Amino acid sequence: MFYPALRMRRLRNNQNIRDMVSETSFGLQNLIMPYFVVNGENIKEAIGSMPGIFRYSIDNLVEEVKKGRELGIKAVLLFGVGCEKDDVASAAYDENGLIPKALMALKDAAPDVMLITDVCFCEYTSHGHCGIILNDEVDNDRTIELLGQAALAYARAGADMVAPSDMMDGRVGYIRQALDEEGFTNIPILSYSAKYASAFYGPFREAADCAPKFGDRKTYQMDCRNSAEALREAAQDIEEGADIVMVKPALSYLDVICRVKADAKMPVCAYNVSGEYSMVKAAAANGWLDEKKIVAEILTSIKRAGADIIITYHANDYARWLKEGSVNA
Ligand code: PBG
Repeated sequence: MFYPALRMRRLRNNQNIRDMVSETSFGLQNLIMPYFVVNGENIKEAIGSMPGIFRYSIDNLVEEVKKGRELGIKAVLLFGVGCEKDDVASAAYDENGLIPKALMALKDAAPDVMLITDVCFCEYTSHGHCGIILNDEVDNDRTIELLGQAALAYARAGADMVAPSDMMDGRVGYIRQALDEEGFTNIPILSYSAKYASAFYGPFREAADCAPKFGDRKTYQMDCRNSAEALREAAQDIEEGADIVMVKPALSYLDVICRVKADAKMPVCAYNVSGEYSMVKAAAANGWLDEKKIVAEILTSIKRAGADIIITYHANDYARWLKEGSVNA
């Protein structure tokens, strides 16, 4: 009789032993919840392409962030949307603008929540590109000067961390210097280092009304065929002073997360983006997938690939499910 000496199933026999030998775990301390903020009062606007996600005015945002905090979500990423747009994204670095106001309100109401701000211009430019246009092109060096101003405006208003997502060259070094010169030496930079030109951002562009009016983002965001290039991007940002490097999107780029983690020797973040969220929501709404199980599996797999930190629109839901006991830790 054939008798296998090696029985892999022995260590899968029951939940206790599976937990004992599990190689991956994550907790709410690893999750960041993104929010879309708008001007006005008492606004909670549904986003058609992202069921369960809303645009909040600052008063409502504060309440949502406090609720999230009670569930255990201690870090948020803020996007300012619906501001007046112009060619040079003035609203993005206005000291009295939407994001500085939101930061001040949140610092006051939820002082132990880490406030991270996206630093990018696509929500604020009339043309929808992430940088300033000169001679029909996104001008790298003009853009990073103004990104430095935006990062400073956010730091002055109480941001705990800034996250440049524009993909201009040299922006991390420029922002680091701008922050340091004003004494913000302790504000970390979470750099969107390997940000791919991706169709997975589709729902976000509706949420933030930031689709480019002409052309696409391929002259600054990465080509999805490349991963060695992601290592160069991360290395460049680290050299310039990034404290955490990010890979975005997450799910189609788990290999990139894995390579960057092995290469970078520092904390790696992954952005589980809008399209990844909306696919799950759409399938779950049709009864085709079990939402809670799928979300737990997705977050676990991003962590397993090497991400220490995950930005995800599922963060608050996941925290609630944990509390209810409807997903396993
Ligand atoms: C740019 C930015 C984008 C996202 C985060 N920051 C959009 C883009 O590059 O087009 C996408 C996030 C998501 O899809 O969830 N400010």
